[in-house]
Formats: sequence, structure tokens, C-alpha cells
Amino acid sequence: MKTISFFGLGYVGLTSAVCFAHRGFRVIGFDMDYGKIKLINSGNPPFYEPKVEELLREALRSRLLSCTHDPVEAVKGSDITFITVGTPANLDGDINLEQVKNASTQIGQALSGKRGYHLVAVRSTVTPGTTENIIKPIIESYSGRRCGDELGLCFNPEFLREGSAVNDTFNPDRIVIGEFDKYSGDVLEDLYRSFYRDEMPKTIRTSLVNAELIKYASNVFLAMKISFINMIANLCQKLPGADVEVIARGIGLDRRIGPLFLKAGAGWGGSCFRKDIEALISFSLKLGVELPLAEATLKINKAQPYKLVELAKELIGELRGRRISLLGLAFKPGTDDMRDAVSIKIVDKLLEEGARVSVYDPKAMENARRIFGNDVEYASSFEECLRSSECAILVTEWEEFKRLKPEDFISYMKIPALVDGRRIYDPEEFSKKLRFSAVGLGERKYHNQH
Ligand code: UGA
Repeated sequence: MKTISFFGLGYVGLTSAVCFAHRGFRVIGFDMDYGKIKLINSGNPPFYEPKVEELLREALRSRLLSCTHDPVEAVKGSDITFITVGTPANLDGDINLEQVKNASTQIGQALSGKRGYHLVAVRSTVTPGTTENIIKPIIESYSGRRCGDELGLCFNPEFLREGSAVNDTFNPDRIVIGEFDKYSGDVLEDLYRSFYRDEMPKTIRTSLVNAELIKYASNVFLAMKISFINMIANLCQKLPGADVEVIARGIGLDRRIGPLFLKAGAGWGGSCFRKDIEALISFSLKLGVELPLAEATLKINKAQPYKLVELAKELIGELRGRRISLLGLAFKPGTDDMRDAVSIKIVDKLLEEGARVSVYDPKAMENARRIFGNDVEYASSFEECLRSSECAILVTEWEEFKRLKPEDFISYMKIPALVDGRRIYDPEEFSKKLRFSAVGLGERKYHNQH
């Protein structure tokens, strides 16, 4: 069995590493950050992701995973190296390739003292052409090898969702292998065949550039689907009797459209969609190509969080001096990640309007404290968050919020008023018992009886 190394132990690198170890592979994790390595080697993932902690502890116990901050040890001890470092955004929207270049340099240097074939598979999201034009020359020059000659190169995008990254690793919809040459692709496909065995996902073998663009096109399309349904939601809101949930079901049954990623709400957040869309727009503009659908996707999403504040105002009037509670802060359930979370925009707007804001999230409170400082009140439970509140805004659809009944809001709040920003509550039941509005819900007959 091949030994694999991962360069960069963020959520993609570490999740993949522990999943490979779980299936019996010997894995070496490398990260420049010594603190992170220490944390991981003591069994503590540096981020919250379901199942990663238990898989990490299992991998350490079985000694199939070891982590180091010595790049030479990682490369020399393995046959295949995945690059899984971050590609954050520069101010102009372009991606920052510093970490990718560093990793390529370190891998190249380490390879110069290693014998035998080695495959490098890039998993970090990079704009089309980067693997061929930037990564390949760096690795070749530092290793003294040429691609195709004892050195393989692939671009192998990841499609993992935060909050379900482990599950997505074990059950992906597809594997995309962009290959410098056929042999590189064969080595990577073989690795996945021994990982998935009888359940090998559909696999696309293609060029490096196609694989790079598939990653961007996927994320732009997914974000576009959400922005599309949010656009329809905003129309529904002005149409008495209309409900975007029904519209989404109605169009989603068409197999050409499909039901997924049609959940209207407060907008999409997270570290990937905006970064990737902006990077592709900026990249394409340099080639003289405009991407108007991508632009519109961003535009709709920028405005969407504020719709929730407007709905709150419609329910209770002016917000100055009023106490508003936010249920959920993470950019989605199942994670403590608040990067680009819509909750940040909503809190900023509420504060600008003069509201007093209390917040609660089952996982993201620590990150929230770093972002909001002393500007908001931090509750340790949803009850505490709702206490004496005059309007609640549901921002992230955690399971514990889905279980709430109208009576919970009525018993804790000063004015039981609720904006459902993720469409998790039954409008009929809730509208009858409290002041209620929701994204994409037109005026109802039973509306505003309170
Ligand atoms: C996204 C993609 O789904 C992954 O395939 C991809 O690998 C990843 O980006 C990446 O590039 O690394 P992620 O950002 O973790 O994954 O989360 P998603 O599940 O896609 O959710 C993104 C945002 O869209 C969340 O804020 C979520 O609340 C929102 N969303 C999602 C909706 O508002 N409506 C929907 O129907 C679905």
C-alpha cells in the first residue's frame, strides 16, 4: 500500500489524512505551523468538524498517522504528496499563491534527495493554468527532475463541505483527476481504487486545466443556484400567498434542475464561494472575459442578509434601543466557522440601527467573541439569548433550533416575534401563535394577527 503525505493540515488536509488512515493507509501530515502539529499529535483537531476528532485519535492510536513540521521527512517517507494548503484571497480578489509556492518549493527540495517515482497531487483550489505554469516549474527546478520522469503531477479538486467533510470523503459524487500525463493519473486513480474498493465513485480523467476549472465552475454554479432561489424568494415576499419553499419543490422535481441547493435563506457564506467566485471573475477579466452570472450571484448574496433585518423591522418597527436575538452565527450548521458568515453582516446592520444584540450559537461562540468583541451580548443557551428579547432572528439552522416550538419563543421573549431566515419553522403553526415572518414568504391570511 502506498504511503501518502499531506502538505497543509487545514480542514481538507487533516480530514483527508484521517480518512486515509481509517482505511489502513500510512499517512504523514506536514504543516509549517508547529503549534498546529503539537495540537494534532495530541489528538486535538485545530477546528471543529464532525467525526474528525475521533478519527484523528484512532489514527494516532493505530500509529498510521504521524504529523511533522519537517517537509523532508514527509516527502521522503511517502510515495504520493497531496498539496492541501490554503489559497486565500488577495485584496483584488485574486488568489494568493504564497502557501502553494512554499509547499511546491519544499516538496521540490525534499525530492532532490529522494529516489524513485513520486506523485504530487494538488488539491488546493487554484485558478486554471496554475498547476502547469507555476507549481510544475517550481517542483521541477528544486527537485532537479522533470515531470514524467520519476515525477508525476495531478490536479485533484476536492468537493468537501464543511460540516460533512468526512462523509463527503467517504461518499463523493465523483473524483476528478487532472493529469500531467497518463501515468500520473493512473497512480492517483489506483490510490483511490484501493481506498474505495467496490465503491469507486465515477471518475473523470482529464487535463490539469480542465480539472482546475471544474472546481471553480462547480462552486460558482452552486452559489448561483442559491442566489437564484433567493432572488425568487425576494419576489415571493411581495406576492400575497406565495411561498418560495413550494416554488423550490416545484422546480426541483424537474430532473434537469434538481432539488438540492435550492434552500432560500439569509444567503450563502463560508470561506469558499465568495473567494472562488471573485477569483474566477478576476482571472477571467485578465483574459478579457466577463462573467455576468457570477457577478449577479455575488450581488444578490451581498444584499440577502439585510432582508432579515428588514423583516424584523416589518414585525416590530424601529429597532433603536430594542433587544434583538440572533439564533445561530456559524456560516452553516455543523461547524464553528464564521468566515464570511451572514450573521456578521446582520449583527453589523442591527448595531447600526441602534439595536441591542444578543447572540447564541452551539459551536461558534469562541469565534464570535473574536469578531464582535464587546459589541454584543453572548448567551450560553438559546433560552438565555431569547430572554427579554423583542425579536428573534434565526440565522443558522442548527438541529437544536429546529426543535423549538412557538411556546418556547412565547415563554422567554418580551415580544414573541420571529424572523425565520432559514425556513425551518412551519409558517402556519408559528404565524398563528406569534408575530412571524420568513424569507420568501408572501403575506398570508393568518399573518399579523398579533
Ligand atoms: C462548498 C461546496 O459545497 C463544496 O463542494 C466545496 O468543496 C467547498 O465549498 C469548497 O470549495 O471547499 P461549504 O462552503 O463547506 O462547501 O458549504 P456548503 O454546504 O456549500 O454551504 C455554503 C453556504 O450556502 C452556507 O452558508 C449554506 O447555509 C448556504 N446554502 C447552502 C444555502 O443558503 N442554501 C442551500 O440550499 C445550500
